[in-house]
Amino acid sequence: MDERTFASDMVMNGEPIIQAEHLTKKFKDVTAVDDVSFTVGKGETFAFLGPNGAGKTTTIKMLITLLKPTSGRAFIDGLDVVSQATIVRSRIGYVPQLISVDGSLTAFENLMLMARLYDIPHAERRQTVERTLAFLRLDGQRRALVKSFSGGMIRKLEIGQAIMHRPHVIFLDEPTSGLDPVARRDVWKHLLELRDAFGTSIFFSTHDMEEADEMAHRLVIMNRGTIAAMDTVANLKAKTGKSSASLEDAFIFFTGENLADGGNFRDIRRARQTARRLG
Ligand SMILES: Nc1ncnc2c1ncn2[C@@H]1O[C@H](COP(=O)(O)OP(=O)(O)O)[C@@H](O)[C@H]1O
Ligand SMILES: [Mg+2]
Repeated sequence: MDERTFASDMVMNGEPIIQAEHLTKKFKDVTAVDDVSFTVGKGETFAFLGPNGAGKTTTIKMLITLLKPTSGRAFIDGLDVVSQATIVRSRIGYVPQLISVDGSLTAFENLMLMARLYDIPHAERRQTVERTLAFLRLDGQRRALVKSFSGGMIRKLEIGQAIMHRPHVIFLDEPTSGLDPVARRDVWKHLLELRDAFGTSIFFSTHDMEEADEMAHRLVIMNRGTIAAMDTVANLKAKTGKSSASLEDAFIFFTGENLADGGNFRDIRRARQTARRLG
């Protein structure tokens, strides 16, 4: 049994951090998310893998209280995301798909701004921001304008914004799309450190097979608003019946489609061309 399978078995014997029950979201005639149910355990790293348009962002937005489900329910730490939204917000961190830092401010200023938004007491703000910069190894760039940052540094700063209030679970929407492999590894190093230090659960979406394969304890294969499969990476591969199956084989096996067919990768890359958007 590989280490991740073991870890996820442990997690699944523990308490849930996220519970989604028949979550559905309709936009006029489009059913973006269609009857989705799943549970994520405390301390687990859980992925939603699917092409552009699969419903990943819409699912995340319902879980983080930004979108009201058309039907179904969801709970974070046992709290209802609709009727207990305010307290849910205090337990979660969110790193959106699009850029959420201000390029005309420094790293320090961006974090101070968010510390205020997240209601971190005035007396603790500076110290919290300093600690976060140090944790992300961004203390050397604290006075630099963020528009001079690389994509990886921006992503780390966005993660910093999302963790200052010590959330129990962090939601990351395509956290490394558009990043080079070195920056991607660096971002994940910090996320895993966070998980291991504080037991923070990690929910992330991705259209990248490799990222899901490497990072997720368990994952959902999402396609056209529905869950095509949900299991550990090893089990999803094994279910294809192919020896040495890749996650891509599993995706095709469960959806009958190629991941690349559904997504418009150029769009995604364009969305994260950081220099241009912040310049
Ligand atoms: N606000 C909206 N209004 C109408 N349709 C939407 C809206 N948001 C998303 N959709 C549609 O819902 C589907 C799922 O979108 P989304 O959740 O963004 O997918 P993903 O994040 O997997 O790319 C797509 O068909 C998208 O066009
Ligand atoms: Mg999306």
